[in-house]
Amino acid sequence: MATSPTDTPLAPLALRGLGASVPDGRERRVLLDDVDLDVAAGEVVVITGPSGSGKSTLLALAGLLRAPATGDVVVSGTSTAGLRPRRRTDLRRTNIGIVYQSANLLAPLTAREQLELAGHIRRRPRREVRAHADALLDELGLGDRADQLPAQLSGGERQRVGIARALMGSPTVLLADEPTASLDPELAAEVARILATEAHRHGAATVIVTHDDAPLRHADRHLHLSAGALVEVGTVAS
Ligand SMILES: Nc1ncnc2c1ncn2[C@@H]1O[C@H](COP(=O)(O)OP(=O)(O)O)[C@@H](O)[C@H]1O
Ligand SMILES: [Mg+2]
Repeated sequence: MATSPTDTPLAPLALRGLGASVPDGRERRVLLDDVDLDVAAGEVVVITGPSGSGKSTLLALAGLLRAPATGDVVVSGTSTAGLRPRRRTDLRRTNIGIVYQSANLLAPLTAREQLELAGHIRRRPRREVRAHADALLDELGLGDRADQLPAQLSGGERQRVGIARALMGSPTVLLADEPTASLDPELAAEVARILATEAHRHGAATVIVTHDDAPLRHADRHLHLSAGALVEVGTVAS
């Protein structure tokens, strides 16, 4: 079981004894077997593993999108085991940003509106949301793309909008599921670099799960998920 050398109860993200399994014929296949992980503020953890090993499951549990069968996810010191769905959603909105493989942008909204929507969901003042969205678009090099629709953006630009949107909630925890998988190698390297830069800049405890190698160069820690266990592969100098 992998834990951080900077293990502290104040780690923004702590997985405790997480268990998950899926039906497999008449049996069940174990995806996560008593998995522990602490991710420090500003740390980028990259988790690799073969297709079907449970990477997306791990991320969905860490992101409070699903409740684990066993174990606990502790977000900024709050234990979520047994939390009511409403509280779980609130905690997710205030603490967690998620980046998806295909950015998952809404087709009729401009880049700026994708970000503004994320602000409005959190009931923040309109003017503040607008200023935050514009600041993040600038930071991600999208200042001149703010009024474009997803169809008018390149794959790399769409992914950058997805990252900016994930940052709109000022998350303490940033999670990315295969963020570079649908990009060609050059763009994949670029998006991985940007993701790590933003994680460090905003001090977000970051977990990237991936079956491609692009994010590895930017990992502070590399773990491999296989047969239900997270195993430390090594520390990568960034
Ligand atoms: N709701 C579900 N019911 C049954 N099997 C599932 C369900 N969700 C995922 N699986 C299976 O669990 C395994 C792990 O899925 P996933 O976490 O998506 O792996 P990865 O992201 O590493 O490819 C896969 O074999 C998948 O088919
Ligand atoms: Mg997956």
